[in-house]
Amino acid sequence: MNNLVAVLYIAAFALFIYGLMGLTGPKTAVRGNWIAAVGMGVAVVATLIEVRDTAAINWILIAAGLAIGVILGVPPAKRTKMTAMPQLVALFNGVGGGTVALIAWSEFLETDGFSAFQHGEEPTVHIVVGSLFAAVIGSVSFWGSLVAFAKLQELLNKKVEKAFVANARTFQLLNMVLLLVAVAASVWIGIHATPGEGTAVRWIVIVLVAAGLMGLFVVFPIGGADMPVVISLLNALTGLSAAAAGLALNNTAMIVAGMIVGASGTILTNLMATAMNRSIPAIVFGSFGGGAAAAGVAGEGGGTVKSTSAADAAIQMAYASQVIVVPGYGLAVAQAQHAVKDMASILESKGVEVKYAIHPVAGRMPGHMNVLLAEADVEYDSMKEMDDINGEFSRTDVTLVIGANDVTNPAARNDPSSPIHGMPILNVDESRSVIVLKRSMSSGYAGIDNPLFTADRTSMLFGDAKKSVNSVIEELKAL
Ligand code: TAP
Repeated sequence: MNNLVAVLYIAAFALFIYGLMGLTGPKTAVRGNWIAAVGMGVAVVATLIEVRDTAAINWILIAAGLAIGVILGVPPAKRTKMTAMPQLVALFNGVGGGTVALIAWSEFLETDGFSAFQHGEEPTVHIVVGSLFAAVIGSVSFWGSLVAFAKLQELLNKKVEKAFVANARTFQLLNMVLLLVAVAASVWIGIHATPGEGTAVRWIVIVLVAAGLMGLFVVFPIGGADMPVVISLLNALTGLSAAAAGLALNNTAMIVAGMIVGASGTILTNLMATAMNRSIPAIVFGSFGGGAAAAGVAGEGGGTVKSTSAADAAIQMAYASQVIVVPGYGLAVAQAQHAVKDMASILESKGVEVKYAIHPVAGRMPGHMNVLLAEADVEYDSMKEMDDINGEFSRTDVTLVIGANDVTNPAARNDPSSPIHGMPILNVDESRSVIVLKRSMSSGYAGIDNPLFTADRTSMLFGDAKKSVNSVIEELKAL
């Protein structure tokens, strides 16, 4: 590695880490993303400089690959709605895993053994272990991410999905067998791969196929409600497999970037699982969530549903001293964030203090609600995290729940038999009055009853969240 390449790599890693720091807060996230992207650009340039003297390098192929990547990647990233972001992340992540698996495969294509043989050398342990680990995990990640994408995009037939969920145990056994096959074939390659015999290429295909089937069969039986956590887990695996491929190729940029993705993906997976009170093994080996959004009916546990009007909601809020807005997935579906901001501005002009309570897994991905509200210029200071706001509900006059369901479900606190018992929730039921904006009595993503909707202090304002908030705005203006 010449000095210029070393300097460029160090600059790239510094940019990755600095960019990542920016992602810790909504104010700096966009800039952080740009900084990390520039870092990746620098790493790509450094790698191209490093390999420029290699005889076999095909610049046209590299340029074509870059162009295809940009053409396929940029338009969906720009056009995809926030509600579909988890699917996009799954796809991008899958492409990363697939690339790593292809790199591992190509290691064997030319020489029918490790490329070190080409130079008359014995492959070192890190080349053997790195490329085989990359083959297994990259393949799991690619196929698993494709299933996650198909599930979230609701492309799978519901009956097929249910059959997988019902036979989760059988698939676990099958996965154990596939894992053994992949590991055994990898060990065989590691010990016996000899150039020219034509066997290593066949065995690496067995590794890739066994690992690929494992990726499919691990993710198929996992319920839709757990899918964002699974995507984050697959993301961590892709990072680790890229780092392993970096070891095999002796590419420092891949090792560092892969480890950063692996570590941050692992931390994120843990945070999400904790916020849902679920363990990662329970998510991977259980089947809570029953496929795509389950079709339960919130409130079916009994109790009276009181519906209210926009006029009544407006009067209650206009005469309150504090209103807390609780956004959820429905706010994203309705794209009601700008209307909510307008409503809050009117309330504030009437002397009402308005705060926003953000649950860590409200919506369908981490930070979903913060991003939506920031898009509508809601002040960051008025967005409160769960632990900071939970103590305030009991002294709040009106809590307006907009398209949120599971994250407000008091059964998580009070009902030991509830599937979400133990999940930390926003204690909205402690407010003096709760107004819930949603279209029907349908359940949230967990597909379970929500006693909040039939509680004494709760009234329901039925309808699309954006339309309802706009009606409230009209009523507030008329007061
Ligand atoms: P949910 O519990 O999914 O509830 C969303 C509610 O929005 C639904 O009850 C739906 O009721 C309503 N809704 C949908 N479209 C609407 C519209 N146009 N107008 C008004 N209301 C609408 O959402 P949540 O409270 O945000 O909870 C998130 C869920 O996702 C949790 O179960 C969480 O565990 C899961 N999850 C999240 C993450 C992350 S990281 N965010 C990760 C994994 C899992 P109607 O159909 O009656 O309108």
